[in-house]
Amino acid sequence: MPSVVPTDVNPLIGVFDSGVGGLSIVRELLAELPAHPLLFAADQAHLPYGVRTNSEIRQFVDSIARWMMGQGAQVIVLACNSASAAALHTLRADYPDFPFVGMEPAVKPAAQNTRSGVIGVLSTHATANGDLFRTTAARYAADVRVIAQPAPEFVQLVETGAWETDEGKAVLRRVIAPMLDAGADQIALACTHFPFLIDALRETAGEGVTFVDPSPAVARQTRRVLDSLALLRESGAVPQHRFHTTGDPDRLQAMIHRLIGIDTPVHALAWGRDLS
Ligand code: DGL
Repeated sequence: MPSVVPTDVNPLIGVFDSGVGGLSIVRELLAELPAHPLLFAADQAHLPYGVRTNSEIRQFVDSIARWMMGQGAQVIVLACNSASAAALHTLRADYPDFPFVGMEPAVKPAAQNTRSGVIGVLSTHATANGDLFRTTAARYAADVRVIAQPAPEFVQLVETGAWETDEGKAVLRRVIAPMLDAGADQIALACTHFPFLIDALRETAGEGVTFVDPSPAVARQTRRVLDSLALLRESGAVPQHRFHTTGDPDRLQAMIHRLIGIDTPVHALAWGRDLS
């Protein structure tokens, strides 16, 4: 029997990305923490984050984090590798008492499981050039060859829903070909948009290549953080999730349906009105 019964309202989890990539984390949070309501925000007005400067990304992330805190979020999941690379440490410094969960490139499991000794990392430019990737690779992948490939085209393929077209498949092939040619057998998906490409990537790469999707681990980490703060709930009111975008609500609504199979209204979140 479902353990979620209508009694009280549970701690709200904020989930934030530049776009629909954050929905790969939403999907896992819904499975891992079904009693918690989610407050999702996509900053599609500023997408892609991957080509922006750290200071621009920090400004956007700070505004949305403050908005989420004002809406009652009790933990915020930065469901964006680019935002985590640019802003996680500044957020933690600026709000030392508030819990944040961030994304880290999944270099560790890729390095642990490689048999060829070559791993690939697919991300945005912001992630590939960030300190977080450098330190993670130095710490966990010193003994393997790491091929980092920024793939901003993949973000657009997911945002536009075009990854199943012939052109989309050609882009996937072209981008991952160098790492396959180099013998990579583990490829970390270090951008939250990319798990939605996993079937198409597997088909392109063929047997013997594993794509590492960190989103289930992020949901488990969110559970641990809630638990450590005595905020974890396994039952309570049926959670009322809320979805927002700084872009086009109708378009996001259609993509939520397509990507994670949920029918939900999407609310407009406006820079200058709700966010500053
Ligand atoms: N989903 C974001 C990430 O994980 C990237 C998308 C973008 O470039 O805005 O890095």
